[in-house]
Amino acid sequence: MSVDCTINYDLPDLHISRQLLLRNANWLMRKNNVADHNLSVLLVDDEEIAWLNKHYRKISGPTNVLSFPLSESLFSELGDIVISVETAAREAKEKKTTLHAHLTWLLTHGLLHLLGHDHERGEKEAIAMWDLEQKLITELQNTGSNPMTHLAINVDHVATVRNARGITEPDPVTAAAICELAGAAGIVVHLREDRRHIKDRDVILLRKTIKTRMNLEMGANKEIIQIALDLKPEMVTLVPEKRKELTTEGGLNVAGQKKKLAKTISQMTKAGIAVSMFIDPESKQIQASHDIGATYVELHTGRYCDATNDSERNNEYKMIAASADEAYEMGLRVNAGHGLDYQTTSRIAAIDTIEELSIGHAIITRAVYVGLDQAVREMKKIVSEASMIV
Ligand code: PXP
Repeated sequence: MSVDCTINYDLPDLHISRQLLLRNANWLMRKNNVADHNLSVLLVDDEEIAWLNKHYRKISGPTNVLSFPLSESLFSELGDIVISVETAAREAKEKKTTLHAHLTWLLTHGLLHLLGHDHERGEKEAIAMWDLEQKLITELQNTGSNPMTHLAINVDHVATVRNARGITEPDPVTAAAICELAGAAGIVVHLREDRRHIKDRDVILLRKTIKTRMNLEMGANKEIIQIALDLKPEMVTLVPEKRKELTTEGGLNVAGQKKKLAKTISQMTKAGIAVSMFIDPESKQIQASHDIGATYVELHTGRYCDATNDSERNNEYKMIAASADEAYEMGLRVNAGHGLDYQTTSRIAAIDTIEELSIGHAIITRAVYVGLDQAVREMKKIVSEASMIV
């Protein structure tokens, strides 16, 4: 059957993902064995929920969620859950959680009411309902649906500056530690065949010192594959690598070299290393990445960032958003990156199926002016606010 989610409020600052709510509602219905029923979820503002509260419960003022079960004769209809996004946003702020996380809790709470649970019927029932809610939410959080976008920082450019002088400073290892202290969720480095920025010494030290997650970008070549297998970073991102390019140019043509890349993925997987494919936002590449067993794809945001007018940028954005959902729904985990800066990041961070952004040049550039700590914090704020972390 189906879940219908209607947004009926006009609060321009409260961006919520209808898609994420639908996904969570469907999951909750399956989990509670009512996937063959219909459910209606209505998102409203305080004024509307206050009216419903007064009319049906004789209680003044807004509330967070109301459940309206349908009569038993309509056995395939579960009923309506009405949520005030305005109250939810206030409560999320008080609880220091995300709006999406709180909406998911309200949805779960509302659904349990429709299924006959009622915390107002006494302490025993209240505890049982609360336990079930916690259990469902914990399980739902582990399904991979993640409303919080992470920021991983690429420190290659610190090494580029160091190498320009041929001395030891600035050190990408120190820079990585500063990025982590300022809130980065991961560190990315690209060990190129020609070692033009990051050197072997850097990856060895970074492996020992990174406290978050190390993502090693690499071309699928024999020497670098062996280094990755020895280092065992948390993940590798396979990228195309050309000697003369200034930076990685396009996405990897996974569809055109499935056999070779499948072998690399299998080697990495056996060593416990997750593999991501850096691809253009195209169905063909997403499907190929899925077919050969990649865990992640990283969607190339370069064309979106380089767009020279709004219409071009919107089109590129739509392709990234649709590709992220397509990959996510196939079971892939989704990252994105390349060229993102302090203007272009927000929209990409708001795509709820994207887990992590990989950003380098813009942050290191800003660090020259304002310091690395501040540059990271400013970017982290953009990412956090876009993914509604309060
Ligand atoms: N992701 C990949 C696969 C890359 O190759 C790069 C560039 O090293 C980035 C992300 C980061 O791009 P930028 O430095 O433009 O933020």
